[in-house]
Amino acid sequence: MKRPYAYIAGTGRGVPSKVLRNSDFASLGLETDDEWITSRTGIRERHIGTDTENLTWMSVKAARQAMSRAGVSAGELDLIVLGTVSPDHLLPSTAVEVQAALGAGRAAAFDLVAACSGYVYGITVAENMIQAGSAETVLVIGGEKLSSIVNWKDRSTCVLFGDGAGACVLRRSRSGAKGILSTYMRSDGNLARLLWRPAGGGASPATEAAIADGSYWIHMAGREVFKHAVRSMSEAYDRALDLAKITSSQVDLLIPHQANLRIIEATAKHAGLGMERVFVNVDRYGNTSAGSIAIALDEAIEQGRVKEGMTVALVAFGAGFTWGSVVVRF
Ligand SMILES: CC(C)(COP(=O)(O)OP(=O)(O)OC[C@H]1O[C@@H](n2cnc3c(N)ncnc32)[C@H](O)[C@@H]1OP(=O)(O)O)[C@@H](O)C(=O)NCCC(=O)NCCS
Repeated sequence: MKRPYAYIAGTGRGVPSKVLRNSDFASLGLETDDEWITSRTGIRERHIGTDTENLTWMSVKAARQAMSRAGVSAGELDLIVLGTVSPDHLLPSTAVEVQAALGAGRAAAFDLVAACSGYVYGITVAENMIQAGSAETVLVIGGEKLSSIVNWKDRSTCVLFGDGAGACVLRRSRSGAKGILSTYMRSDGNLARLLWRPAGGGASPATEAAIADGSYWIHMAGREVFKHAVRSMSEAYDRALDLAKITSSQVDLLIPHQANLRIIEATAKHAGLGMERVFVNVDRYGNTSAGSIAIALDEAIEQGRVKEGMTVALVAFGAGFTWGSVVVRF
């Protein structure tokens, strides 16, 4: 049997209502300004969840929309895969909380930790399980409440991130035309400490000292991460096209991970794509990590940027480092 084994039957997103603009950081006591953030990142605002708008809430909202558009009921789900690095609880997974909230009684559910590549990794795992015959219908979610793990006193990180979730329903392909044409995943743990949370896990538990010295929150070597992001996303794009046996001229839309407009532009340049063939919403969301491509794909479909017959490349990069790509025909 040849690809496509699975297709995207519906997408959705769940985004908290509160918007934090660049100009709002001054009132939080941070020495930063709109010009610095916009010129280096392209980010103008991001959404921030409240206590009730947690990851489960965002994920369930995204999932219900995706399931309704796919015409799939909760009872039809065989599996829920949720990419995140900011789960509502460390035990158990947020995926099981989503499973319970949806009433998806037949579904297995687990979280997948691949940082900003979580959604692309999730789609890859889901497609492989469909190919293997162990699932027919899978809900893939990428989402984060990064506002709960950033250091709001560290201007070099907190301005970059935001909250939000997106979802898709993957189903076994019945016809040969549309669906996933290729997937690609890589990682390099040698670079783990360029973007990480030093404390909070088993190796260095959450203590008052860890919170006081900031090691509990996200740490990032921005410039190093930037270089690797461009290199890895370019490689992931090339590999996805090779594996799908297509060229860049056949890509209707590139949906890259939305971390930084300059990284997106560099990836587009490598791909030889004009920005009119690249989806960008980092200005309105910031970096929502695993939520990023999931939200962007849903918006792209809603805005009519993705139509039936189009070929779309999803390209991700994140902490780990992890990177990967998926080519889908709609
Ligand atoms: C973070 C990033 C925007 C910083 O841009 P940069 O041009 O590399 O800036 P630098 O790190 O050289 O910092 C320059 C100065 O700005 C300061 N600065 C950092 N954050 C600031 C902020 N929010 N506002 C104002 N100044 C800030 C720094 O303290 C530094 O000051 P110094 O020179 O006096 O030490 C950039 O490196 C980046 O986008 N990296 C990738 C991050 C990313 O996308 N991560 C997720 C990947 S999944």
